[in-house]
Amino acid sequence: MNLEKQIYHRKSARNYLDGEIDMDIINDFMSTVKTLDESINYHYEILTLDEVNTRIGWKAPYYLALYAENEDLALENIGFVFQQLSLYLQSIDIGSCWVGMASPKKKDKDFVIAIAFGKSDDKSRDADSFKRKKLADISDYEDEKLIPAQLAPSAMNSQPWFFKHCDDGIDVYQVKQNILKRKLLNDWNHIDMGIALAHMYLSNIDTFEFFKKTSFDELKGYTYTGSVKI
Ligand SMILES: Cc1cc2nc3c(=O)[nH]c(=O)nc-3n(C[C@H](O)[C@H](O)[C@H](O)COP(=O)(O)O)c2cc1C
Repeated sequence: MNLEKQIYHRKSARNYLDGEIDMDIINDFMSTVKTLDESINYHYEILTLDEVNTRIGWKAPYYLALYAENEDLALENIGFVFQQLSLYLQSIDIGSCWVGMASPKKKDKDFVIAIAFGKSDDKSRDADSFKRKKLADISDYEDEKLIPAQLAPSAMNSQPWFFKHCDDGIDVYQVKQNILKRKLLNDWNHIDMGIALAHMYLSNIDTFEFFKKTSFDELKGYTYTGSVKI
């Protein structure tokens, strides 16, 4: 299964078709997924449209409700794990879209975010039609190895990542949003960071390592997420 190539053609699907999906496919894939750190807890639930409240104009037949506890890197791990699933769904012709604006009708304090999914005719595009920041604006120097991260989806396409090369790998930082955007984007940006890390993992599957350093450069306007070897 080559999920890397999906990175260059994926697109958030917002137009869905009727059609049942065998949920065992999802459960089987989830038993093979890589986590950022095995000790981080998370779980998911598959819901149908009538079990979800959405505040957006489009709807999907199914939603994944994603849950995590309040612990370090829990949101990044949600992004990391479920972006692998999203790309896997894409590879078997199922569209998906992360949705901050949907939640299960049944309240749960650990609910983090949802992913809409279903059969779709609106889930891929040419590699040159992504709207993304330039490599030079998301890194200390232009490095083509960062293209998979550059193409990652993010809440409101905010692309909150910055990459700084160092002797033992690449330090990864999250932009500090201004006070107006912070309330809306902050949790979602932690998820975005994990999504970008998933793209780095899938394009360097044999060499990828994620670790947290105790000593790293402070960058004005950013917080340190962790470091990778790719
Ligand atoms: C954490 C997160 C939350 C998102 N929430 C929504 C949402 O509520 N509604 C929506 O239509 N798209 C949502 N998106 C999709 C983004 O708008 C989309 O990823 C971004 O604009 C880039 O477009 P692309 O995914 O097609 O590359 C979300 C994406 C992420 C990663």
